[in-house]
Amino acid sequence: MDLEALFKPESIAVVGASRTPGKIGYEIVRNLKEYGYSGRVYPVNPQAREILGLKSYPSISAIPDKIDMVVVSVPAAMVPDVVEEAGRKGAKVAVVISSGFKEVGRQDLEDEVVERARKYGMRVLGPNIFGVVYSPARINASFGPKDVIPGHVAFVTQSGALGIALMGMTIVERIGVSAIVSIGNKSDIDDADLLEYLVNDDATKVILIYLEGVKDGKRFIEVARRVSAIKPIIVIKAGRTEVGAKAVASHTGSLAGNVVIYSSVFKQTGILEARNIEEAFDWARALSYLPEYKNGDLVVVTNGGGAGVMVTDTLALNGVYLSSPPEKLVKEIKPKLPGFASLGNPIDVTGMITNEGYVDTVISSLLNDDVGAVLAVYCQTAVTDPTIIAGLIIRKIKEMGGLSKPLVASMIGGEEVYWAIQKLNDAGIPAYPTPERAASSIASLINYSKIRKRLTGNA
Ligand code: COA
Repeated sequence: MDLEALFKPESIAVVGASRTPGKIGYEIVRNLKEYGYSGRVYPVNPQAREILGLKSYPSISAIPDKIDMVVVSVPAAMVPDVVEEAGRKGAKVAVVISSGFKEVGRQDLEDEVVERARKYGMRVLGPNIFGVVYSPARINASFGPKDVIPGHVAFVTQSGALGIALMGMTIVERIGVSAIVSIGNKSDIDDADLLEYLVNDDATKVILIYLEGVKDGKRFIEVARRVSAIKPIIVIKAGRTEVGAKAVASHTGSLAGNVVIYSSVFKQTGILEARNIEEAFDWARALSYLPEYKNGDLVVVTNGGGAGVMVTDTLALNGVYLSSPPEKLVKEIKPKLPGFASLGNPIDVTGMITNEGYVDTVISSLLNDDVGAVLAVYCQTAVTDPTIIAGLIIRKIKEMGGLSKPLVASMIGGEEVYWAIQKLNDAGIPAYPTPERAASSIASLINYSKIRKRLTGNA
């Protein structure tokens, strides 16, 4: 059965909706209401008449409406009965927040939940999760932060609290998300099911998975391979060391498996494996903001030789090598640059470049037909102003009618640089505070393009 009801339910019941602010069952109802879900929300609580201004019902069966999704936030022992009642009511998916199942040795209780749901053809998300968010439908059925920024990254996480924290990080880092799905113990709905759904979801451009272990390896490989040919999948694999794997077992009860096997599976299936959270989110930002890299040179423009070297190193470590810039570009920019500028790749416009000189070189590179992508690396100097540079780049790109090829920026320096980075990110140009992060992000686009060509046979 497909997962339409998990992302586009017309009605949601919250069982265990609480009257007490700060309790999970209260915060879920609040998020649903305040994030702007336009469907119908029914709190269920035998003690309450009303919660957050919404009429409350003593049981699911008492609700005088059909229910698509049931969010379950009652203690574990009660969950099987609630799920049974939800199934009888015709609900299509149960989102089970409660902990106290496989992760604490209660596989039996978890199996019972799934068996009862299956009787009615109902799917189960969780248990042991913080919920689900789908921004196009303004659904925030979670007890994470409320104001998730709508965008194009779908984030699937096996970890709960870390997932909630990362949800908050997407807001601070201004990374727009289409969906956030906490999958916890994966009693029924797993990564492969979500990949199959999200590959056809128009709002999702990139799928980011925090993974501890996979339940059905064969199916995961088959689905991931198929999806990678259409949309990039980024994975952060936790439990990469022996001690880490032990920690995974007591966290979600999964088998972390052998890190070498996982890495080779990721390569085979075209998954981009990030080494850490920062890298995963950096890549997700670039891949979700930017047009696809097709072909042509990657040109690096910098006003700092050292930053250019850092970029060259990081690109090489990510399998991307720079070639000389196109001759036509060199001819065009040379007369406008200081005599001692270096016209290799990186193009070093030097520390004496003006705001306009720097931005003109970036734009000329973008407009050159032989250039496939541009990495603009800026070091703050006293003769330039990062705010003006960011503003000029944004304006010129607007005048060009938007980006038709990838542009990633790195701005290195003090407080003004921090704000200039925010400005670029808000305008849809991925910007990073270090040259390495920017280089690794543009490399993820180029590498994904190679993967896609390999998987679709268009090499
Ligand atoms: N149907 C509907 N509501 C019911 C109910 C039932 N059968 N039985 C009790 N309730 C009500 C309670 O009266 C209470 O409402 P109130 O606060 O207005 O009195 C509400 O449901 C919650 O029940 P309560 O017994 O107070 O539970 P709780 O809020 O302390 O804990 C869980 C419930 C699910 C949150 C808790 O058991 C749990 O599993 N916590 C861990 C969750 C978690 O960490 N998940 C992983 C995230 S990463």
